[in-house]
Amino acid sequence: MRAVVRDRYGTPGVLRVATLDAPVPGPGEVVVGVAATSLNMADLDHLLGRPRVARVATGLVRPVNRSVGVDLAGTVEAVGADVTTLRPGDRVWADLFDSGHGALADRVRVPASALTRLPDDVPFDVAATTPHSGSLALQCLRYVGPVRPGERVLVNGAGGCVGPFAVQMAKARGGVVTAVDHGDKLPFLRELGADEAVDYTRDDVMQGGRRFDVVVDIADTRSLVAARRCLAPGGRYVLVARRIGSFAEKALLGPVVGALTGVRMGSFAWRPNQRADLDELAGLLSSGALRPRVDRRYGLDEAVAAFRHLASGAARGKLLITP
Ligand SMILES: NC(=O)c1ccc[n+]([C@@H]2O[C@H](COP(=O)([O-])OP(=O)(O)OC[C@H]3O[C@@H](n4cnc5c(N)ncnc54)[C@H](OP(=O)(O)O)[C@@H]3O)[C@@H](O)[C@H]2O)c1
Repeated sequence: MRAVVRDRYGTPGVLRVATLDAPVPGPGEVVVGVAATSLNMADLDHLLGRPRVARVATGLVRPVNRSVGVDLAGTVEAVGADVTTLRPGDRVWADLFDSGHGALADRVRVPASALTRLPDDVPFDVAATTPHSGSLALQCLRYVGPVRPGERVLVNGAGGCVGPFAVQMAKARGGVVTAVDHGDKLPFLRELGADEAVDYTRDDVMQGGRRFDVVVDIADTRSLVAARRCLAPGGRYVLVARRIGSFAEKALLGPVVGALTGVRMGSFAWRPNQRADLDELAGLLSSGALRPRVDRRYGLDEAVAAFRHLASGAARGKLLITP
């Protein structure tokens, strides 16, 4: 089999395509033929070994895990002797974030428990864009509770990996969405369905006295006090944290400030690869409420170029890799 691997932490140049022995499923395991995968910020973090504190778990000097890639869509090829829930030919998908990574390959061996069945009406190249970043968006919107029709929703940092899912989910629920990101991405934000697209380099919507019913903060650039100021009475704020200090501030103090001032503020306890989330995402993909954008498609041999494009911040949608 062929797989994209890395032997050390570093920029995308550390990646190479290796030819490895064909995987054989052990007890409780399944081998999946990868139809497609896509890149997320988590993949770049995994590659770079950041934040550095995470290396306590992933390998202090060198990464313990050489495999790369979390978003998986494919077909079961072989199952371990005791696996009864899946059989060869089943369509499956997963976020392999806590199941060993390794989706950037033509085959991957994973625990059967990590896989969710993928409905026939969701194409592999659509499914592969969604498990990791789509679940993050779903969980942070769940934290703020249902978006009601007509509510003003601010998605701050809307043009990256998670933001487009949050914009489309909020629109599907009837929200009036203001999407904020770099000026180069404004046409992309409008294509996603945002009612208003704002360039953060020109206009600071969290400072200007505007009020929102829901704030999904993916850019994570503001203090708790600034975030509170842009909430309407009864408003809800959720942080998709990028910085540990900011996460501590919002997750610990947010609920206190919220309770004292009549709003809801905080962050969420992220749980990757939940079957219920993937089933809900499959429903949204089937119904067309979610239409993930693919910016570029790559083969396995082009993984370095794909990661460089992700790292550049220039992508307008997901970067899909088909082995
Ligand atoms: N429980 C949790 O909170 C939790 C759990 C798991 C993961 N995470 C985090 O979730 C994040 C994933 O987000 P992502 O993948 O969507 O990141 P991303 O792809 O980097 O997107 C972030 C976007 O925000 C934009 N941005 C930068 N500065 C901004 C500003 N001042 N105002 C508005 N937008 C700005 C960026 O634009 P530019 O290109 O111009 O910089 C980029 O388009 C990761 O950082 C990960 O660590 C959080």
